Formats: sequence, structure tokens, C-alpha cells
Amino acid sequence: MFGRNGRRGTAAGAVDGGAPHEALRLVKVTKVYGTGGAEEAAVTALDGVTLSLPAGSFTAVMGPSGSGKSTLLQCAAGLDRPDSGVVMVDGAEMTGGSETELTKFRRERIGFVFQQYNLLPTLNVAQNTVLPLKLAGRRVDRARVREVLARVGLADRMRHRPDQLSGGQRQRVAIARALVAAPSVVFADEPTGALDTRSARDVLGLLQETVRVDGRTVVMVTHDPVAASYADSVLFLADGRLVGQMHAPTADAIAERMTHLGDMYEAQGPGPAPHHDPRHSAPMGV
Ligand SMILES: Nc1ncnc2c1ncn2[C@@H]1O[C@H](COP(=O)(O)OP(=O)(O)O)[C@@H](O)[C@H]1O
Ligand SMILES: [Mg+2]
Repeated sequence: MFGRNGRRGTAAGAVDGGAPHEALRLVKVTKVYGTGGAEEAAVTALDGVTLSLPAGSFTAVMGPSGSGKSTLLQCAAGLDRPDSGVVMVDGAEMTGGSETELTKFRRERIGFVFQQYNLLPTLNVAQNTVLPLKLAGRRVDRARVREVLARVGLADRMRHRPDQLSGGQRQRVAIARALVAAPSVVFADEPTGALDTRSARDVLGLLQETVRVDGRTVVMVTHDPVAASYADSVLFLADGRLVGQMHAPTADAIAERMTHLGDMYEAQGPGPAPHHDPRHSAPMGV
């Protein structure tokens, strides 16, 4: 659906016969909350979302608060299950298996970055970074850990604990952790929502780099048009439905489109609070 100009990636985004392969596909994904209680009104958070993203693309997801952005990301990333519909990553169906299979699938193919970093406070930078490998029972290659921390500019902070780091540095650890297992798709929910402008730029640059250099696929939820302008394309969500898309976006064009999407949108406001689903033992996304 979203063509890419030229070949940028070689690893996860390798191309076969000229056409980039599909990294993520959603078909009629629906999620309804609150159907349990008698008095409880059901909320359709996702209303039949269908999309396809090629490997090696950087996509921003925008929409008014409550439009379903986080739900979309969590269903696409296998952190939550849709009520109906199909999610495919790298041509393999993620929906449908057991919880154990889903967890394994996620650990092998998906990385996560969240607004609040979700680092374990008692572990140092290197230990936080290798956590996904340890949980997956995979061998920890020290050279790989050093390489991924050097990529995010923290090779000299390996023994620091999160409370000894700035917010921007913490988020860069979270990016290293998301990348260490070489996932196909990296999902980020408001990754710059708690950061100052400069740290935000660093984080966005790193996400862009993992797409352009490593050929990974990045899907980023943001409410910030400047952040979204780092992406190759923007998907607009309203009331749980995809209502538009923009290629080669500029911050001004995005802001202009957003003003027509909904009056609930807060252009300068803080990001929505992250979800803390009690079903996921901390930290979410690992
Ligand atoms: N765990 C939940 N239980 C009930 N309703 C939820 C839950 N998570 C989200 N919702 C509702 O689903 C809709 C979409 O939420 P969300 O995906 O968080 O939107 P966004 O990230 O765009 O702000 C909202 O109406 C929200 O209140
Ligand atoms: Mg949200």
C-alpha cells in the first residue's frame, strides 16, 4: 500500500525481485471494550481496521485522543488480542495461537518503545538491554549488546542504572532493548511524549536510522506533527477507523490535516497516559 522510493534497507527490509515484502498486515481488526457489565456501555476502540505496511517503512499513526491509536498499536504488536480480524507480521499470522505461542512470536519479531520507557529500575543499562534475549532464552552476544548500545550513544553508560540517566538516555536504552533481538517491526507509542525537544529529535533520528540503515519497519503513535514528520507516511485514525493517509508528510501539512480530524485534538497537550495492563507483568513489551 505504501510504496517506498528506492531501496534503503538490506536486513529485515530486503527486497525480492524489486518489490519490498510486507512487514505488517491488519485485516478487519476490531476491538470492543466494556461488553462485560450490564450497565457498561461498549466502546468500539477499533472498527475494522485494514492496512498493509511494507518492510523498511516508517509510519506514524495520528488521531484525536481516544481514537484508538494505542489499541491499534497493542493489537498490531500482539500485546492485546483483537476481538476479530487478523494480524500478520512478516507474512505469518500472529492472531490465533495460544498465549505461549503469541509471546514467542512477539519476542522473535517485535520490539516496543513506550512513552514511559518501562525500564527495570534495579537493572543497569546493559542488563535492561539484554532482557528480551534472556526472557527468550537466547544467547547473549556481548558484542551485539555493545553494538546496539553504541548505536544509541550509550556504550559508555553500560553500568549505569536508569535513575542515573536523563529521560532521553532512558528512552535510548529502551530503543536499544527494542532493537537487540533484531525484530522485524518496532512499535513505539508516544516515544517522545515525555522528552524535551532535543532528546525527542535524537530518539526520532534513531527510529529513522533503524528503518533506513537496518531496513526495519517502524510504526509510531504520536500526537506531535513534528515527530510524525520524521515518518515516511502518516495514517490518520478517528473513532477506531482509518480515515486518511499522507505520504512524505511535513509538520505543517500534518497539523493542518489534524485540525480537520477532531476538535478533541490537543496540539500542544501532553501525550495520553500509557496503558498499564495488569495482565502484562512488568515491564510491558518485553
Ligand atoms: N482497557 C480499556 N478498557 C475500556 N476502554 C478502553 C480501554 N482501553 C481503551 N479504551 C477506550 O477505547 C478507546 C480508544 O482508546 P485508545 O486506544 O487508548 O485511544 P488513543 O490512544 O487514540 O487515545 C477510548 O474510548 C478508550 O476510552
Ligand atoms: Mg494512546
